[in-house]
Order: sequence, then C-alpha cells, then structure tokens
Amino acid sequence: MRSLRPRLTSLEVYASTLLLSLGVTPVLGCGSEVIVTDGEGGSGGEGTGATNAGGQGTGTGGAPGARCENPVPILVDGKDTGFDQCDGGQLARRAALECPESWPDENTCCGVCPDGQLCSDSGEIACQCVDACATDADCGAGSVCMCGDPAGVCVPAGCQTAADCGSGQECTSWDPTLGCLYLEFACTTPSDQCGGDADCPPEASFCAVALDGHRECVPGGCAIGRPFLIDDEARTAPLARRSDWRDLTFRPQAVSTELARDVAAAWELTAQMEHASVAAFARFAMELLALGAPPDLVERTTRAMADETKHARTAFAMASAYRGAPVGPGPLALDGALDGAADVATFVRQLIREGCVGETVAAVEAGEAQVHAVDDVVSDALGTIAGDESEHAELAWRALAWAIEAFPRARLALEDELERLERELRAPLPLTGARDSALLAHGVVSPQLRAHVRRRTLREAVLPCLRAIAAAERRAAA
Ligand SMILES: [Fe+2]
Ligand SMILES: [Fe+2]
Repeated sequence: MRSLRPRLTSLEVYASTLLLSLGVTPVLGCGSEVIVTDGEGGSGGEGTGATNAGGQGTGTGGAPGARCENPVPILVDGKDTGFDQCDGGQLARRAALECPESWPDENTCCGVCPDGQLCSDSGEIACQCVDACATDADCGAGSVCMCGDPAGVCVPAGCQTAADCGSGQECTSWDPTLGCLYLEFACTTPSDQCGGDADCPPEASFCAVALDGHRECVPGGCAIGRPFLIDDEARTAPLARRSDWRDLTFRPQAVSTELARDVAAAWELTAQMEHASVAAFARFAMELLALGAPPDLVERTTRAMADETKHARTAFAMASAYRGAPVGPGPLALDGALDGAADVATFVRQLIREGCVGETVAAVEAGEAQVHAVDDVVSDALGTIAGDESEHAELAWRALAWAIEAFPRARLALEDELERLERELRAPLPLTGARDSALLAHGVVSPQLRAHVRRRTLREAVLPCLRAIAAAERRAAA
C-alpha cells in the first residue's frame, strides 16, 4: 500500500483502489463523484469576485458586537449588489437585489465553461466551472445568490435579508468551518458576542454561530493533517521560543519581508497541527486498546506517532528558517482529551474526522505543495510528509472498516458523519489569488487553496469511500 497515494489528479482511482484493498466492492457512486443535489456546482462560493469572499477578514478589531459596523457596499461593475462589507470582516445582506453581471468571464483557467457557469480562479489546484445565479430564485431553498464578478453563486443561508431576522437584527456571514473560509449567512441575535472574526481575540479568533443561534468567539483553524479534536475543536499547543524541535537548518530563498512573515506563520500553524497529531495518535492507540483492536492497527499507530513527531520537527524547522528565529511548541493542554474515549460512536466520529478526512486531505495537500515548492529542501520534506500521511490515511480507513464490522453502533455514527460531510459539500468556497501561489512556492497551502483541496478530496475520494463502506454494511446486515 506504500504506493497508494491520493493525488488531486487521481482521486477517483485512489478511492477505487483503496476500497478494493479493504475488500469493499466499489458501488454506484464510489470511485466517481458524489452527486449533491443542492450543492457543489449550485452553491459553490467560488468566483464571487467582488470582495474577499471569505467574509471573515482580518480587520483591525474593535468593540465586540453583532452589528455590521461601517458597512461598505460591495459593487460589481459599479452597481450595488445589496451586500455590505463590515468592519468585523463579515458580510451583511442589506437587500436582495438582482446581481449585476459582467460577462464574458475573463477567467480563462477552465477554458470555456458551459453557458450559465463561471470559472473559479483557483490556479492549478482547483480550477472548475460552477453554476452562476442572478437572484435567490436561481438557488435552492436555504441559500442566497451572493453576487460576484462576472455573476453570483449560491451560498447556504438561514436568511435572505434582515427582514427575515428579529427586530434590529441583520443577516450576516460566518465561516462554519472556522478557518477553511467557507461562507454561510445567518441572522444575528441580541446575545451575540461578536459580529465577525475581527471582533475576536487571538486565542479564540473565529466568530461562530452556536447551536442556539447566537454568535461567540471560539478557537479554531482549518484542519491541517490529523487534528487533535477535543469537543470537536482542534487543540494545539502554543508556540514557544526554542530550537530543540528543529530537525534541520537551512537558508530559504530570499523573499520579501512580508512574504517571509506569511510563510513563517503558515509553517508555524502546520507545525502546531503536526505536533498535535502526535497526541491524536496517542489517544487513538489507547482507544484501539480499549476496544480490543487487532495488533497490526496498534503497531501501525505507534509508528504513525513517530512520523508525526518527525513532521512537527520538520515544520518547526521550516517555520524557524522563514521566521529567522527558533520556534517550537509550548505545553499541550490535555484536559477533556479522553472524554468518551472508549465510546464506539465517539471513536468512529473522531476516526472519520481526524483520519479518513484529515489524513487523506493532508496527503493530497502535501503532495500538491511538494510539486509547487521551489526549494529542494522544502520539496523533499513535503514528499516525505505526503508519503507518511498517505499511510496514515490508509490506516484510518482500515481501522474504520474494522470498527464497522466489529460494532453495530459504529454504523450509526458512520451514517451521521456521511450526512455531515454531505452538508459541508454544499458550503461555498473562497476565492484564491496571486498570494496563494506565492505561498505555495514555499510549500505552504493557504486556507483558500486548502478549502479547494479539501472539497475535491471529500467529493472524489472520502465520501465515495464512506458511502461504499456504509452500503456494504447495509448489504451484509440485510
Ligand atoms: Fe503529519
Ligand atoms: Fe498524519
């Protein structure tokens, strides 16, 4: 299985091969794209070029609050779109206007898109045609047409404008993936603690809509590699000034001060996530033991812990090189890490999120970054990481196949996760730009590009495989 590496260009082949290696026959929908009736294509947020479509900008902060402060109307071709950019980084839907259009699509990345579609500008990583819209009527229920250039795209929404919300409230955007820059609209509430991400402090930097509908600042970050999830949030250690975690020193190619700072910050985040992956595998090993797993899964898990330690050291080395100062991890908080550790449903949920999704996406991401990295040291390091993450992904899929066969309750958890991931496919995608390519040359996949990689990996590999495994179990049960 060492040669089975998920690559962006061959995700369908990967999915089919993986399933066959697990003894699961690919079925209809497996090894081919998942069809989402009200989503991808219809509600992808790419190409909404009028503004920073993430809607979660990095403003200068200010007093927390739900209001859209200092709204700036977003224009396309000089015409009002009905959307405002707020100081907090969020977008507010002021009025449901028909989106101005400025065809033809100037973006040649996709060649020529079919009529009614526009091309998302995602460079080599995720260039694709998505359905355009002009009004909310063009979108399915529960979504709005977010205007852009050359046309609008549908995005999920619990409201169309403030008129759908309570007195004095607004219909504003937030990022349900906490950092992957997806976009959704929801009503503000009187008990909101923030309006957008820029209202939040660094230690809890995402303004998220809680289950009861109010917004509050929470920690987060788009998952890189295997996240260490506690209460469904990725836990990482803080950064510390230390040099003992570096496994190499090198002098990166000369870049501008600003780019070096951005690349260093991205490598620091990657290093923190890789460091946390060690803990995720440590917990996974204990869970496997608690559930009576076979020895090969335990052995491979302990090897994976060593891989992740190496990845963390490499990433801290990269971060230190670009930062020009040594950086390493501080203490990792473990409170709550083992809550529900021996519960089958919790085990399966975390296994799918951390392993089947996190590791598969990480393998694809590292492979893409390797191809584009201009520095040989960086490229070689990413090649090693990509190979290891592929093995970790395969370990996750094997563990899932074992759990599904061993525990009837695991099947329910699998169905729940399938539903959740299919919902994620309906979320919009952010714009990408020149800065993303500049970062990629230094081995860094920006959150924007990561969102595209994650979307394609989910759609073309993860979901088809999960569906096939679920279908096989249903057949076996019948
Ligand atoms: Fe890793
Ligand atoms: Fe990994």
